[in-house]
Amino acid sequence: MKALVYHGPGRKVWEDVPDAAIQEPGDVVVRVDTTTICGTDLHILQGDVAAVTDGRILGHEAVGTVTEVGEAVSGFSVGDRVLVPAITKCGRCMYCQRGMPSHCQTVGGIGWIFGHLIDGTQAEFVRVPFADTSLYAVPDSVTNEQAIFLADSLPTGYEVGVLAGGVRPGDTVAVVGAGAVGLSAILTTGLWGASKVIAVDTNKFRLEKAMEFGATDTVEVGPGTVADVIALTDGLGVDVSIEAVGYPETLLTAASLVRPGGTIANIGVHGTPVELPMQDMWIQNVTLTMGLVDTVSIPTLLKMVASGRIPAEKMGTHSFTFGQMEGAYDVFKNAAANSALKVVITPG
Ligand SMILES: NC(=O)c1ccc[n+]([C@@H]2O[C@H](COP(=O)([O-])OP(=O)(O)OC[C@H]3O[C@@H](n4cnc5c(N)ncnc54)[C@H](O)[C@@H]3O)[C@@H](O)[C@H]2O)c1
Ligand SMILES: [Zn+2]
Ligand SMILES: [Zn+2]
Repeated sequence: MKALVYHGPGRKVWEDVPDAAIQEPGDVVVRVDTTTICGTDLHILQGDVAAVTDGRILGHEAVGTVTEVGEAVSGFSVGDRVLVPAITKCGRCMYCQRGMPSHCQTVGGIGWIFGHLIDGTQAEFVRVPFADTSLYAVPDSVTNEQAIFLADSLPTGYEVGVLAGGVRPGDTVAVVGAGAVGLSAILTTGLWGASKVIAVDTNKFRLEKAMEFGATDTVEVGPGTVADVIALTDGLGVDVSIEAVGYPETLLTAASLVRPGGTIANIGVHGTPVELPMQDMWIQNVTLTMGLVDTVSIPTLLKMVASGRIPAEKMGTHSFTFGQMEGAYDVFKNAAANSALKVVITPG
C-alpha cells in the first residue's frame, strides 16, 4: 500500500510501505476513504514532536471502511463505514473511566497515538487498535466530507473551548484565533445559546469565515484589540474567552478580555512559557482551563451534524487526491494565503 511517511524534519514522502495488518485481536484494518491534515502534522514536520521518528506514517484523522476485523472485535464488521478519531481509548483504564481518554494509560499513556506513536491515517489503509472502544459508526445521513472534521478539530473547539469554558445561555464569548479549531468553537458556541460571539484574528478571510460560522462580531487584531472587544461587551469583558492560537501574546489577549468571574479556556498548543499577570488576575475570580481533546463529544456532534444543526462540511475548503498529498500540504501550510481552512483528501 501507499502512505505518507515521515523521514525527519522537513521530509515526507508518499511511498510504498508494508500493508496495514491486524496485530492484536482487538484491531481492525480500515481502508481510508477520506483524511485531512492538522496543524499538529505541520509541527511534526518542523521536528517539534520528538516521539515521531523516521519511518512513521503521518495523520490522525480518517473516515473509512472496515476491511479486516480481529477475532476479539464484536462491534464492527467488514464493510462498516467508520470514523477514526484522533484519540484511541481502551475504555477501561482509570482515565478512560473518568471520561478522559486523552490520557488513556493502556494505549500508551496518551490517547493520541496515530501518526505519533503508531502509524497514522494519511495512508491507503490504517490499523486501528482498541477498535471496539475507539471507532464510531458513521450514520448514513452524515457524509465523509462532514465526518472527517469530527475526528479532531470540531471536538477540540467544542470540548476544550465551549464545554471547558462553561458557555451558558446569554453569555458573551470571545474566540481569539479563527482557524479550524477556533471556528469549531464558534460553530458550537451557538448550541449553548451564547448571545454574542466575537471572533478575533489577524486574518480578514478568517474573520469573514467566522461570521459564516456564527460569530456576531469580529475584531481584526491591532493596537486596540482588547479595548475593541471590551467595547462590544458594554465595557464588562466577556463571560468566556477562548484562546485558539497557541502563542503567549494570544493567551495574554484572551486573559485580558474576560470579566470578573469568567473563564479563559486555552485550546492552543504552547511551545514556550507564558508569563501571566497574576498580580492583576488573582482578584478577578477567573478560571483558566486547558487540556488535550478527549473526543468524547463525537456521538453528540454526529447527531448534530446528522440533523443539520452543525454544517461541518463548511470546514473543508480544498480537495485533493492521495497522489496530490504534497499539494495538499502546500495549500494547508500556507492556508491564509490560499483562503484555506481544512483540506479534504480522498483516494481519487
Ligand atoms: N488542545 C488540543 O487538544 C488541541 C487539539 C488540536 C489543535 N490544538 C491547537 O489549537 C490551535 C489552533 O489550531 P488550528 O488548527 O485552528 O490552527 P490554525 O493555524 O488554522 O489557526 C490559527 C488562527 O490564529 C490566527 N492568528 C495567528 N496569530 C494571531 C494573533 N496574534 N492574534 C489572533 N489570531 C491570530 C491565524 O490567522 C489563524 O486563523 C493550535 O495551537 C493547535 O495546535 C489544540
Ligand atoms: Zn490534530
Ligand atoms: Zn484507557
